[in-house]
Amino acid sequence: MSQIEVKDLNVWFDQNHALKNVSMDIEEKRITAIIGPSGCGKSTFIRTLNRMNDTIPSCMVKGSIKVDGTDIYDPEVDVTQVRRRIGMVFQKPNPFPKSIYENVVFAPRIHGIKGKKELDAIVERSLRRAALWDEVKDRLDRSAYDLSGGQQQRLCIARALAIEPEIILFDEPCSALDPIATAKIEALLEDLRKDYTAVIVTHNMQQAARVADSTAFFYLGELIEHGETSQLFERPDKELTEQYITGRMG
Ligand SMILES: Nc1ncnc2c1ncn2[C@@H]1O[C@H](COP(=O)(O)OP(=O)(O)OP(=O)(O)O)[C@@H](O)[C@H]1O
Ligand SMILES: [Mg+2]
Repeated sequence: MSQIEVKDLNVWFDQNHALKNVSMDIEEKRITAIIGPSGCGKSTFIRTLNRMNDTIPSCMVKGSIKVDGTDIYDPEVDVTQVRRRIGMVFQKPNPFPKSIYENVVFAPRIHGIKGKKELDAIVERSLRRAALWDEVKDRLDRSAYDLSGGQQQRLCIARALAIEPEIILFDEPCSALDPIATAKIEALLEDLRKDYTAVIVTHNMQQAARVADSTAFFYLGELIEHGETSQLFERPDKELTEQYITGRMG
């Protein structure tokens, strides 16, 4: 079932038409990968899915994005609620300069959760879910900056999970990580797909092929092709997709 329905999405940064008439359905509890050359609009696309582009003054968004049937760009919609339901993890691990514990409880506190017991439970649940608990359970009060890059990225995933989102957006979550840390994140994605809808931007086509149920190829701001991952990589419909996945594109 489609959880996100994008229709005729156009995005501009001043005169730069960054996304052109993108229509795409994103299915519930599956992993959707977004691939395409640098500058084709991948980050812009996933940032429209939780209204992160709203923070950029030169950015204009037109079209509709329905999440569970509600247009998230409707003026009645509360952006804070949109971001609560749709979490995001970025390319560079970006923990706050605070303890591991405080990183995880940051958003739940903003959403009004105060009780120590309840916060403790959220920390344990989120860190377990992000496959980090065993590595940090004895040092929750230590700075997040003491963790390795891969651990910091899993902490950022735990932080996103702490407010129980339904959808998680990942913008090249492994591009700053070594192969072992990358493999851990990929295993984690595989586990999360049971309960969450995930959209992951990746430059790494092997990664898309390994983790994603469906894959979308963007080129120069347009969605060229979106299909089952195996179909897109083995039997692409479009010549441009074929050129890109076989490395024949400039
Ligand atoms: N904050 C911004 N201000 C102005 N223009 C922007 C901004 N963010 C993106 N753009 C422009 O929008 C277009 C798409 O950029 P975007 O970052 O979405 O590409 P991308 O596919 O994520 O690239 P990469 O693979 O390099 O991360 C580019 O022309 C870029 O210059
Ligand atoms: Mg990007």
